[in-house]
Amino acid sequence: MAWNPAGMADLPSLFETVYGRPPTHLATAPGRVNLIGEHTDYNALPAMPLAIERRIRIALRPRLDRQIHLANLDPGFAPRRFGIEPEIAPFPQGDWGNYAKAAVSGVVRDAPDAERGDWLGFDALVSGDIPRAAGLSSSSALVVCTALAFLAANGRLPRLDRAALAEQMARAEWYVGTQGGGMDQAVCLLGRAEHALLLELPGRWQPVRMPSDLAVAVAHSLVFAPKSDGARLLYNRRPIECRLAAALLAKNLGLPERSPAEPPWLLGELSRGRPELLKHALDFLGEDGWREGEIAAQLGWPLERLRAALLRGKDGRIFAEPEDGFQLGRRVRHALTEGARVHAALQALRDGRRDQVGGLMAASHASCRDDLGVSTPELDALVEVSKRHGAIGARLTGAGFGGCIVALVPRTILPGYLEGVWQDYYAGRDLGGRRREDVLFATAAGPGAAVEEIAEEKARKRAT
Ligand code: GLA
Repeated sequence: MAWNPAGMADLPSLFETVYGRPPTHLATAPGRVNLIGEHTDYNALPAMPLAIERRIRIALRPRLDRQIHLANLDPGFAPRRFGIEPEIAPFPQGDWGNYAKAAVSGVVRDAPDAERGDWLGFDALVSGDIPRAAGLSSSSALVVCTALAFLAANGRLPRLDRAALAEQMARAEWYVGTQGGGMDQAVCLLGRAEHALLLELPGRWQPVRMPSDLAVAVAHSLVFAPKSDGARLLYNRRPIECRLAAALLAKNLGLPERSPAEPPWLLGELSRGRPELLKHALDFLGEDGWREGEIAAQLGWPLERLRAALLRGKDGRIFAEPEDGFQLGRRVRHALTEGARVHAALQALRDGRRDQVGGLMAASHASCRDDLGVSTPELDALVEVSKRHGAIGARLTGAGFGGCIVALVPRTILPGYLEGVWQDYYAGRDLGGRRREDVLFATAAGPGAAVEEIAEEKARKRAT
């Protein structure tokens, strides 16, 4: 959440200043960019994210009670405290402490029965250098980092199953109201230095080596899209539309109806082994918005059932019909073509076909703009500027509605690229007090989340 690189080097000594005793552990968790495969994860279709070098860091020390005390180096985030309970009531919407509550609630809820009541809290000092509200997953990094801190404070790291924790934290983050698909938490925990991940949720991933002569550049459009705020509703609309489309298609294909209690029909699941699904879906769903009454009638359900089964968010609220109706055909076209582009991009990267990688990134951006409706004029402009200055490919990354683009840039031209984009896009724009290196930077694929014991703690353990 916060970014304060100056204070990060001495996070342990700052911890001692705040809490009067040294920390025992340092947990870190990276942000991410997604190279291609946007809004595919919640459809069980592939994505190709990578962990970036920028990270959340938490210095911590276990407490002897069940309290969690959080301080943040960023003065914009006031200290927060809460107790570990089976049901932890949230702070007001938008409060940064809710990401920590989400993590702790998720770990406690999923613990085996025997361990439920048996938790210690911790003192934490949080810092980081992932730009916020930028589509770089600073919030998921905070959730994962807090979960690791909580597990470390309770001596439960040796049993850490990274993939299982990623799934748990994806669900845990619904606590803040965004119905994310799990990509962010997975790459945060499973990311590898110098590699992207081919991620096929649920449960499958493989590292993809990044070409060493390409840099990953990230540029912020300066349109801010905080997940805990308005972007949440805009985002949630897409998984809901895909869920509606999948239910209609299943019915139309004569597949057996599932009970609303089961996981929703996923487009990916529905499309496997059915290469003709895209054409069929487009013929059937068409280009116009669907009204909820029409959807209910097609499914043969009363409206109330439709609302309860498919329009209810994880927070229990019913999603209201958008003015332009539910855009089912366009969303399905995006999801299915985007899934295919991820596989094509994997092959093109392996074959060293740079022109193809660039073409697929361009097609992905166009689909995010036209069919998914998550781009903005600023993101479109940045993509153009990026290409003009030599990126082999550029596209919006993350949920969209603002935030960042990702670009692949030959290392040999990187300084000129960064300067050109700086001059052409940022000159004359208000950075809102941010520094150049927080809105425009190059990154390599970095390692996934980790926890280290702090040297004094190791020494103390050896001595006792
Ligand atoms: C957000 C969500 C992810 C994913 C992306 C879009 O980051 O948290 O699960 O859906 O948007 O690809």
